[in-house]
Amino acid sequence: MLNSFLSFTTLSALLATAITKPIDPREAASWPDPEPCTGNCSYIHDPSVLRRKDGTWFRFSTLGNIAIATAPALTGPWTYQGAMLPSGSKINVVKNQQLWAPDVSNIDGTYYAYYSVSHSGLQTSDIGVATSSSLNVGSWTDHGSVGVPKSGNYNLIDPNFFRECANCQNYWSFGSAWNDVYQTSLNPDFLTWSGVTPAQKLFNSTVPKGQNYPSITEGSFLFWWPVSGTKYYYMFFSSGACCNAGTALAPPGDEYKIMVCRATSPTGPFVDQAGKSCLKENGGTLVLGTHGENVYAPGGQGVVFDQSVGRVALYYHYANPKIGYGFEKFLFGFNYLEFASGWPVVTS
Ligand SMILES: *[C@@H]1O[C@H](CO)[C@@H](O)[C@H](O)[C@H]1NC(C)=O
Ligand SMILES: *[C@@H]1O[C@H](CO)[C@@H](O)[C@H](O)[C@H]1NC(C)=O
Repeated sequence: MLNSFLSFTTLSALLATAITKPIDPREAASWPDPEPCTGNCSYIHDPSVLRRKDGTWFRFSTLGNIAIATAPALTGPWTYQGAMLPSGSKINVVKNQQLWAPDVSNIDGTYYAYYSVSHSGLQTSDIGVATSSSLNVGSWTDHGSVGVPKSGNYNLIDPNFFRECANCQNYWSFGSAWNDVYQTSLNPDFLTWSGVTPAQKLFNSTVPKGQNYPSITEGSFLFWWPVSGTKYYYMFFSSGACCNAGTALAPPGDEYKIMVCRATSPTGPFVDQAGKSCLKENGGTLVLGTHGENVYAPGGQGVVFDQSVGRVALYYHYANPKIGYGFEKFLFGFNYLEFASGWPVVTS
């Protein structure tokens, strides 16, 4: 009896070892599952989330001419409201173009939404801007292209506006999938490019061996936070194999993921937690990757202070393997971050 019990447990342990995939050391961190999300949490890519003064949360996302949803809390319930630009953008880059990766900020009381106009595989994308006084569907005015010149050095996607205070210098980053993340600035109208030549800030963070798709560094999002009296600038970004379909999943460790580099100035130089340069040595510290049974390829992230709980939230899109890997299956997720160590750590 005892013997057979022992051999049964030994056998199960052996079986469990045999069917468990090898552990990627970067997955060893025990990240919590995303916080709950109710209402419409699906068909989400590259979300941009902000809270209006009246307490209503707004979520903007890729496709559907930029889908807008609202909720009373980050956890929902989220209600789809409609498209930000129902008849598309003034910009024309390609037939069947799509609007991607909105980045929405409140700048001096007006909401500015920067968005990409692109198509899968296109390296000559453009970035436009629309404004609104309320964030509501139906209130958006398109101003067309911001006017950053196209260049073989970068791809004009994934804009991010950053300004630390009302009269501070603004910084505006974008790019790129193929050629890394670049930073420039906007004129004081926040609608047009300043003319400052875009400077490269981050190279590929992970360069998977032997892969036959481009290595990706994109979706930058700059956020500052004080830690023990030091003001740090965190450049969050997405890296790895973007946008996999279920038939072509990336090798473990190469999946899309959220990374960060840090600097003591908004223009860098950015380094990772190991001190590697993010510009010259492909540095980058993993913040959140594929983990557990429910979270595959998180990315397209942003960071927002959630006043209702007094915590910083990292929000993103991800796939749940139980729901599917299809483009339309991607979900909205978020977790809270702790910065006590000087680096953002996902906590429950
Ligand atoms: C959920 O939101 C997506 C856009 O994010 C939209 O395409 C879809 O129609 C919405 N579903 C419902 C039931 O409202
Ligand atoms: C970025 O990745 C691509 C594709 O893997 C590679 O050709 C290129 O050399 C990398 N860039 C840097 C700076 O390492």
